[in-house]
Amino acid sequence: MTPIGIFDSGYGGLTILKEIRKELPQYDYLYLGDNARAPYGTRSFDVVYEFTLQAVKKLFSAGCRLVILACNTASAKALRSIQQNDLPQIDPSRRVLGVVIPTVEALGEISKTGNIGVLGTPGTISSGTYDIEIAKFFPRFRTVSQACPMWVPLVENREYDGDGADYFVEKYVEALFAEEPETDTIVLGCTHYPLLLQKIERQVAGRATVVTQGGLVAKSLADYLHRHPELEARCSKGGAVNYLTTENPEKFTEMASIFMEQPVRASRTDL
Ligand code: DGL
Repeated sequence: MTPIGIFDSGYGGLTILKEIRKELPQYDYLYLGDNARAPYGTRSFDVVYEFTLQAVKKLFSAGCRLVILACNTASAKALRSIQQNDLPQIDPSRRVLGVVIPTVEALGEISKTGNIGVLGTPGTISSGTYDIEIAKFFPRFRTVSQACPMWVPLVENREYDGDGADYFVEKYVEALFAEEPETDTIVLGCTHYPLLLQKIERQVAGRATVVTQGGLVAKSLADYLHRHPELEARCSKGGAVNYLTTENPEKFTEMASIFMEQPVRASRTDL
């Protein structure tokens, strides 16, 4: 079996996997959540890179020829080094893709005024990746960003629909609007954040369009496979999904079944 690998620090990548499976149900997938070491968002460049490379190697050794970093923090801090420095040595025929570019590419069709707000982990925001990529694709756009350090812990600890989450949703959304009241498009630049979508939408209250990444990444992957038939032919097509976690598999199984809205069975792995 040569599944498509999907990696995240924890549960957030499931929001991407869910949309990818809707778009491309025919392929096999192997999800890896490094739950034991999540969150990554407050970790340094070196550490995120080291952990992400370990995860990519694990997915490669499990047979994946294509790995999606379904994590903005890893995409922002590790993707380029892995693509440029590690892949040529490990196996130049394998591919690792991220979630930032597919998201940025879509903004031209979504924003009317070009005032973009980005919400992400401290790591993603301080890397400046979104500002840089948005400026490359759309030089006239203006980007403001806001780190939301409490949102991933709320999701990982299953507090995303509790009352306690309301305070931090209001805090970060209003900080973004305070910096740029004219923001017309808000990118949820962290794959955990769709779990907070209802609360975020309520707080935004129609002032801007809130962009989630799953559908955009799924469409971009479909397009990528279409453009790379040699890689596509090597992806196995049994419609199966397997899950690996570095934490307790029972805990992962329970949470992931809620996120995926179907029963999930996970196995534990070391990286
Ligand atoms: N889901 C992740 C992201 O998209 C990472 C969150 C974290 O581990 O802090 O950034």
